[in-house]
Amino acid sequence: MKDHEIPHLSDLDRLTETLIGPETAMPHDASSVPIFQTSSFLFDRYEDMAAVFAGQSDRYIYTRGNNPTVAELEALIARMEGVEAARGFASGMAAIASAVLPFVEAGSRVVAVNNLYSDAFRLFECVLKKFGVTTDYVDGTDTEAVLAALPGASLIYLESPTSWSFTTQDLRAIGAEARRLGVVSVIDNSWATPLFQRPAEFGIDLIVHAASKYLAGHSDTIAGLVAGPKALMDRINHEAYHYLGGKMSPFDAWLVLRGMRSLHLRMARHCANGLASGRALSAHPAVTHVRHPAFEANPGNACLSGYGGLFAFDLDDSVDIARFTNALRVVKIGVSWGGPESLVIPAQAALGLSGAANVFQRFGTPAGSVRIAAGLEQTETLVEDVLNAIEEGRR
Ligand SMILES: Cc1ncc(COP(=O)(O)O)c(C=O)c1O
Repeated sequence: MKDHEIPHLSDLDRLTETLIGPETAMPHDASSVPIFQTSSFLFDRYEDMAAVFAGQSDRYIYTRGNNPTVAELEALIARMEGVEAARGFASGMAAIASAVLPFVEAGSRVVAVNNLYSDAFRLFECVLKKFGVTTDYVDGTDTEAVLAALPGASLIYLESPTSWSFTTQDLRAIGAEARRLGVVSVIDNSWATPLFQRPAEFGIDLIVHAASKYLAGHSDTIAGLVAGPKALMDRINHEAYHYLGGKMSPFDAWLVLRGMRSLHLRMARHCANGLASGRALSAHPAVTHVRHPAFEANPGNACLSGYGGLFAFDLDDSVDIARFTNALRVVKIGVSWGGPESLVIPAQAALGLSGAANVFQRFGTPAGSVRIAAGLEQTETLVEDVLNAIEEGRR
């Protein structure tokens, strides 16, 4: 895909039938997946229960382990990512922690990309470090540097594009080298969704989603997913998932499933709104940098067949950040992204993030940077709002 282009509809349509689902027959021929809001499942006979405990039957027993509504979503994401299996978690962070923990131990070294999501950074810096796992951070756009960091590592943690800097990594080169060296590769694919990037096709092992974002898409739930080959998913099942207990609830799975039935339509608008506002900002004299894969050549751009609507731009000194933010009428001030409403976070506010291990300070996010999540509003309304706010923010 060329820069500034809206993805070709056939890319979106390819997986649309899968999205519209449900793929399997539902009880009473329901046209959507029912919510199985139950903690446990009953057995008629002793032998049925004994068979489950002996691993000879995979019927449902307890919702922290498995649940039909959650299983339907797990099967859907595995199909879309083109991998064997998936698991639903209570949040994107529960998914990230469970994708990492089974593959590290005291003395392990992790390689992670610079400018990763703030709480993933804290997982490495505030939790894993305590247990003797160290993390080296590399510039993901420097493929040679990433490959050079791999020997001796247990795991590489990728986000393509990264949070806030929105730079991409060469997934094919990194995936191949990680496999050759036996390093488990994990990627956060929440931004692109499987509609616009399928990391398994490039040799990445485990794919994490903050389903709270585009997959659910309505700012009404927190959920996470991990997808990958059965052998690695079994490790996650046996060494993290059951015991950490961060299972996705049936109701949250149902919200994600419902959201995903329109994912292709929403992603086309998020993509178009992100590109239109990025283009308008690129042309503005007070904007020094637009951080969006369509506006910067980076090694992993070719892995993307479309764009999310989340990106950042840097304002110069002529704009008062607080006045700009307060002048926005359509775009709201708030964290998160992936829902219908456009949202901003000014870096100036985030630089003061309390608690240990501040990712913004660690990777030098410029104070004039603003992260914007382009939502589903009319494109012209959104662009006009951002440009007006810059004018009102001028000192
Ligand atoms: C890129 C990215 N990954 C993961 C997460 C974590 O997801 P959750 O909030 O569902 O734990 C977020 C949340 O903002 C995110 O932006």
